[in-house]
Amino acid sequence: MKTLLEVENLQTQFTLGKTAIPVIKGVSFSIAEGEVLGLVGESGSGKTITSLSIMRLIDPPGEITGGKVIFHDSDRQIDLLRQSDKELENILGNRIAMIFQDPMTSLNPVLTIGFQIAETLRVHRRFSRRDAKQKATDLLEKVGIGGHRLYDYPHEFSGGMRQRVMIAMAIACEPKLLIADEPTTGLDVTIQAQILNLLRKFQHELGMSIIFISHDLGVVAKLADRVAVMYAGRIVETASVKDIFERPQHPYTQALVSSIPRLGFRGKRLRTIPGVQPRLRENSIGCSFYPRCDHRIGICAIETPVLEEFFPQQSAACFVAQTKVGGRLRSGQ
Ligand SMILES: Nc1ncnc2c1ncn2[C@@H]1O[C@H](COP(=O)(O)OP(=O)(O)O)[C@@H](O)[C@H]1O
Ligand SMILES: [Mg+2]
Repeated sequence: MKTLLEVENLQTQFTLGKTAIPVIKGVSFSIAEGEVLGLVGESGSGKTITSLSIMRLIDPPGEITGGKVIFHDSDRQIDLLRQSDKELENILGNRIAMIFQDPMTSLNPVLTIGFQIAETLRVHRRFSRRDAKQKATDLLEKVGIGGHRLYDYPHEFSGGMRQRVMIAMAIACEPKLLIADEPTTGLDVTIQAQILNLLRKFQHELGMSIIFISHDLGVVAKLADRVAVMYAGRIVETASVKDIFERPQHPYTQALVSSIPRLGFRGKRLRTIPGVQPRLRENSIGCSFYPRCDHRIGICAIETPVLEEFFPQQSAACFVAQTKVGGRLRSGQ
């Protein structure tokens, strides 16, 4: 499969007073054309800042301090972190789109939704007024809202309908990559399923890649091909959805998997993960998950594990997993 985006050793920090607090601590992953990558991890683990950093949408006191974000555009390879603002704007408008949990943060409350969708097409695709209006009408039909609502304002829609408007706007320019940051969080289950179906439909139709972000592994599993698990500013495991569920390697992934309600386990109390994520200043050495880990061993307190491939297409950053799987692989069993 052709690679679409490669994130390499991405680092982002926030400076509060005189203290620089690293928030994204060397994140690397890649996504292929047409692939859906789920980025999962509890609130505060750095999912949103990762996605904003990819698009260079970090404002002071935040700052991207290192790494590369290589976007493969036809046969060009472009580092998004090293483009002029103008070049970046062009790529973001035409090739990469983003939707958020709260569509109201991206929709203008005083403009009709039809105008806003049409404007995207006029700016990025240089559509004429008439063509833009026609395409906006088509898009509203496609996302199940209906073209007759072209002249309605954002506040006239329910949360689920607003997210459909956002999807219409996001796919207007037929992006190669859609970054969806908790797009269904806060919506009720039925609406959530409809939005996921819509994303799946457009992913097939347009062949676009999606980075689907959620704190909920159950939701991620419904859409993603592959999952990257984030904890305290790092990716701690990456694998296919199937492998994540069948043989999670990192204790944090194991805890996430066992906290998901499954058929046949209904009514049973869910396991929650005891403890809280470390405060960001505290974890300069050792594994960030150490304080909450049931399996920790001596080295975990003093060294930071890096991602290591245990099985084909499955990597985890964990010394305990290394002693188990690594040991087994090395001894040839
Ligand atoms: N504007 C900000 N100033 C300082 N710290 C921030 C800011 N935005 C985010 N952070 C910190 O960055 C970390 C990651 O945040 P975020 O990416 O929003 O997490 P997630 O999306 O996984 O819930 C959090 O610990 C948060 O406290
Ligand atoms: Mg977030």
